[in-house]
Amino acid sequence: MKNTQAIGIFDSGIGGLTVVNAIQKALPEEHLVYFGDTAHLPYGDKSADAIRFYSLKISKFLLEQNCKMIVIACNSASSAAYKTLLDFFSGHTLFVNVVDPLVEAVTQKGYDNIGVIATKATIRSNIYRDKIKHNLQKATVHSMATPLLAPMIEEGFFQGKISHSVIDTYLGRPEFKNIDALLLACTHYPLIKKEIEEYFDYKVDVLDSTDVVATRVKQLLKEEDLLAQKRTQKNEFYVSDYTQSFEDTAVVFYGEEIELKTANIW
Ligand code: DGL
Repeated sequence: MKNTQAIGIFDSGIGGLTVVNAIQKALPEEHLVYFGDTAHLPYGDKSADAIRFYSLKISKFLLEQNCKMIVIACNSASSAAYKTLLDFFSGHTLFVNVVDPLVEAVTQKGYDNIGVIATKATIRSNIYRDKIKHNLQKATVHSMATPLLAPMIEEGFFQGKISHSVIDTYLGRPEFKNIDALLLACTHYPLIKKEIEEYFDYKVDVLDSTDVVATRVKQLLKEEDLLAQKRTQKNEFYVSDYTQSFEDTAVVFYGEEIELKTANIW
């Protein structure tokens, strides 16, 4: 592999753009190629087998785009497909998932009561509970699937009446009463991080996977001596099914204008 090759990043749709944003800030010299599988979103409601199948095909596409690394910017795909992708493609590219850096960040802080919110697929996999308990036996983990949050955010309902009510309904449950930290284990959720911090009156440490993943990407590229010196091409953004509404929402996730191209890999 060469340092001039791109970093591939994928998600079920556009939530992974929050991770792209963080990587771009941490590593402005890198050429990024994003793929959002808008034809199959949401992954959170799919079976692990289906998510593995999609992830394999997308990784093949990103390898064809000459990627030295693939970042699985989706918790549902990280929990279902990371091991499979390593088995299939190790030696051809590096993989970074979004679960491990978040688990490390929270367990290093040594909290007793940790809450996790994510899609159904991520919660069903038990990956956060198992990995947190493995690193920090004393921790109690309260996990909950919050499937309304991703579509709510995509439709632009945050910092308002609807999001306050949905957040209150989910996080007002008794198991979240005494948590010290809450993991936003879905790459859509950074957009409502502030609102959740406010909800807990800033008494709960709310962690998301944006900066911790960008740091992991940088570390790994450095270790492998694969950091780019200078970006030679514009970043590219592909989706498997284009609509104007995805492009409009993508701006909200990415924070600036974006041109989505269609890659029909199915
Ligand atoms: N962004 C995806 C994740 O991190 C969730 C969205 C979906 O269900 O497709 O799990």
